[in-house]
Amino acid sequence: MNRPEQTRLLKEAHRHMPQGVAENYRYWGEDRTLFIQGAQGCELTDCDGKTYVDFRLGYGPIILGYRDRRVDQAVIDQITTGGTLSGFSTPLDIKVVQQIKALCPNIEKMRFANSGTEAVMGAVRTARGFTRRKRIAIVEGSFHGLHDEVMWKSDLENWDPRGKAAPDIIPFGAGVPDTTRDLVTLIRLNDFDILEHLFQEQGEDLAAVLLEPIIGNAGSISATQDWLQRLRDLCTHYGTMLIIDEVKTGFRVAAGGAQQLYGISADLTTYAKAMGNGYPVAAFGGRADVMDCVGAFKGGVVHGGTYTANLVALSAASATLDILTNTDALKTIDATGEKITAVLGRVFTAAGIQHCFAGPPAMIGIHFSEEVPTNYRDWRSTDSELYAKFAWKLIDHGLMLEPDSREPWFLCEAHANMDLGWLEDVATRAMREACG
Ligand SMILES: Cc1ncc(COP(=O)(O)O)c(C=O)c1O
Repeated sequence: MNRPEQTRLLKEAHRHMPQGVAENYRYWGEDRTLFIQGAQGCELTDCDGKTYVDFRLGYGPIILGYRDRRVDQAVIDQITTGGTLSGFSTPLDIKVVQQIKALCPNIEKMRFANSGTEAVMGAVRTARGFTRRKRIAIVEGSFHGLHDEVMWKSDLENWDPRGKAAPDIIPFGAGVPDTTRDLVTLIRLNDFDILEHLFQEQGEDLAAVLLEPIIGNAGSISATQDWLQRLRDLCTHYGTMLIIDEVKTGFRVAAGGAQQLYGISADLTTYAKAMGNGYPVAAFGGRADVMDCVGAFKGGVVHGGTYTANLVALSAASATLDILTNTDALKTIDATGEKITAVLGRVFTAAGIQHCFAGPPAMIGIHFSEEVPTNYRDWRSTDSELYAKFAWKLIDHGLMLEPDSREPWFLCEAHANMDLGWLEDVATRAMREACG
């Protein structure tokens, strides 16, 4: 690969940052790690001048397009008149919550955060503060950010799907203390028996069940309507908080997120990513009686942070939410997503590859298997190796995505202008090369 400038940059970066990158997931090896010089619409340009149509979209925040003028101008207007932050309240705090409430009937009260990680931490602490319980349950294959308690996963890489034993539960990496697992139970999506058992055993101690109903970190594998409803009912019965993590799905799969698609409301919800079209903004909120246990009074749940509700973040959120509320952006994304799955489906069929699509058109999971996986363990039986080969070839041909089928294809409004003929051509070539 001809990438002299990126090779030079990575060599230099190794002197300054571990693995030469600013966060772990950007390191794609010595020959593949990217340095980006620009972005516009749905395209990225790397530091050697190669352009990509991007379906990775920075792990999902870009919902309109890179450098959307409407959002950027709102931020410029805000910071040139009102500054970036003062550590005090502003009218924009109220306005953004009102905008979210208009789209998400599950939200009665809300607080802001700077990242999905922080929003999830706030929601979990609020659930514990409200219920006065400690235990939480999370779902295998989900990702809820970089705080220790949710950094436990099923070790599918070293698991034999044909054997009877369950996969080991391991930390995401070094530095996560064993004790942080003590209060966390991992359950399996769509498994009714495990759900019943969880509540029978732990219901009275369970502060929250935290989940992504459409798992944005496991190829959009989704909860069935019945399973999610049963979880909702059990949470209600036992006084356990249902926390729906909409960091990836919020303002993306529908204006009201996954909860709108299912017609099921959480007690607490987290948002980030699409809420700000790439500006760092997040929030958590839900039932007023639950959220009202947050506050600086005796027995209140602590929530704060220097950059909370800063005006760069809030002006971007306000402009993005305004566009999502008052334009057809999400309909456009859905229509584009349908066209893209039709093209890819044709390519896979022509190549004789068993395939299926998971999740909504704004967040497409692609699995090389006969049936859509119903939970994370099923994902192990998909041909994820072929997917990775196909994905690397797509990247070589100028289509950017995460080379791991657990990361869905993210769409933004700007993809509406992309050339579907070009997509069919590069996907056909990439699949031929991957199989060859
Ligand atoms: C569902 C979900 N929750 C939480 C997070 C953490 O968000 P952040 O990376 O903004 O901290 C992510 C990140 O991808 C996510 O997908």
